[in-house]
Amino acid sequence: MESPFKPHILKGKVALLTGGASGIGFEISTQFGKHGASIAIMGRRKNVVDSAVASLQSLGIPAVGFEGDVRKQEDAKRVIESTIERYGKLDILVNAAAGNFLVSPEDLSPNGFRTVMDIDSVGTFTMCHEAVGYLKKGGPGRSSDDSGGIILNISATLHYTAAWYQIHVAAAKAAVDAITRNLALEWGSDYDIRVNGIAPGPIGDTAGMRKLGPDEIQSQSKTRKLMPLFKLGEKWDIAVAALYLASDAGKYVNGTTLVVDGGLWLSRPRH
Ligand code: HXC
Repeated sequence: MESPFKPHILKGKVALLTGGASGIGFEISTQFGKHGASIAIMGRRKNVVDSAVASLQSLGIPAVGFEGDVRKQEDAKRVIESTIERYGKLDILVNAAAGNFLVSPEDLSPNGFRTVMDIDSVGTFTMCHEAVGYLKKGGPGRSSDDSGGIILNISATLHYTAAWYQIHVAAAKAAVDAITRNLALEWGSDYDIRVNGIAPGPIGDTAGMRKLGPDEIQSQSKTRKLMPLFKLGEKWDIAVAALYLASDAGKYVNGTTLVVDGGLWLSRPRH
């Protein structure tokens, strides 16, 4: 789909995306690149990262990939430093890495719960913590008239109410939203960094939908009862929301998590 934004809105920006090699993260990498940004991708699977980088480069987008796990502080530090070595600065950090599986609370081991908290919540905090020195106004590589950088955290809507078999993810994404708000307050005030989130609804052609897509949504017959817009979202919908938040269009938006779900989380079956 054609972009509603001008192609240069992220010109000269450097973006690092965890989980940026697949699914929603890769679409954000692609759209950021098509709108002028240089891209660094961090991911656990080298072959997936390499093929994402090759795809971006084939579109003429400057791109580099680094193997790393957001659960390891030393990986976070190394990848951020490598991004700075490569591009000289960091403007945008997107935390899109996530872990998920469906399991009932009684079958979920505390270690399974901790694993998802470690990837989604602690991983997001760790990346922010390691990146703040580069994102802050006046940080290395930033010119004196540059504003501070941007952080975007990919969240979800399932913790607004409750979700079957997702207690670990609901807890983890609730923590991500708290991180978004607290950093927006403190780092907005101290460093001119904007911190926002995006909460996607069901997005077609993603690992999340393949793993989690509720039967009600996947079954055409029930879709109309539950989905206000009667359709799944596309990865593109999330990527253009990210473009809005990361570009100057979003310059007064700080500490919000933008729900991009077609209104689904509000819905109940029609009486
Ligand atoms: C129950 C499970 C489990 C499962 C793992 N565990 N998978 N428990 N059911 N299906 C438990 C293990 O038993 C173990 O606990 C602990 O979790 C760690 O498991 P490991 O296999 O050692 O972990 P690891 O290899 O690091 O894998 C992490 C992962 C993995 C989360 C389990 O699947 C992953 O990272 N996937 C990433 C890709 C992904 O899922 N992306 C989609 C995100 S979609 P014990 O006690 O046995 O040691 C998304 C959308 C959210 O986030 C919102 C949707 C609405």
